[in-house]
Amino acid sequence: MNFYVFNTYEEVSAYAAKIVSDVIKAKKDTILGLATGSSPIGLYKELVSMYERKELDFSSVKSVNLDEYVGLSGNHNQSYKYFMNCNLFDHINIDKKNTFIPNGISENLVESAKQYDHLLEELGYADVQILGIGANGHIGFNEPAEKLELSTHVTDLKIETIQANARFFESEADVPKKAVTMGIGSILKAKKIILIASGENKANVVHSLEDDYISTNIPATLLKLHPDVSVILDRAAASLLSQETIESETNETTRVSDR
Ligand code: F6R
Repeated sequence: MNFYVFNTYEEVSAYAAKIVSDVIKAKKDTILGLATGSSPIGLYKELVSMYERKELDFSSVKSVNLDEYVGLSGNHNQSYKYFMNCNLFDHINIDKKNTFIPNGISENLVESAKQYDHLLEELGYADVQILGIGANGHIGFNEPAEKLELSTHVTDLKIETIQANARFFESEADVPKKAVTMGIGSILKAKKIILIASGENKANVVHSLEDDYISTNIPATLLKLHPDVSVILDRAAASLLSQETIESETNETTRVSDR
């Protein structure tokens, strides 16, 4: 796991976008693993700007999203399908037929979760998977638990996740209580992983990524088993990291500012 710390969220987003764009430039038919929530919004803005400057071509790119709320159709303004259209797909030349998001309104959620897994397998999993992180350590909606599921599945959202996401809804009562999420196994099959975190409320969980322990009670710690994870942070999210880690990333900050 490599940590990169930047002064601002904009720099975090620019660095993440540089990694993603390098992958797309090297492989036209990249499989992009996408996340929603606040963390990747700046990265998506950067990718849109790169596309507008004709630096990036998404025509052969396919995408797979991590998760979707159960019960929200793509027309609902808080569904993750809607989020992806507004923040990325509507502004780039990706073919929407090549964008895949778990189905939260299927009559048979278990069966459609299985189909999503087959799709991931067929596509060969993400070349680069973008992740945010919950303050409780969830990735996708793999919530802290004694056991974690490897494959795409329906999950109950933890109360702290519902409370954290209430900011996007009119009230906490409107936040769906369940979601369909890619499992930890599929996330770990991505060739490259980028985890973005900003803000003081992520500092504790980011701190747990630094040591030599893993725990299903902090699902993101399982990313330590993956050989290529970049954790891209602003100063606030990195504030509890050891001096040693902070020093080793200072050069990166400089490198990106110099870009
Ligand atoms: C969203 C997702 C979640 C978020 C996490 C952090 O697709 O999978 O794991 O990444 O809840 O959310 P933000 O970025 O809003 O703090």
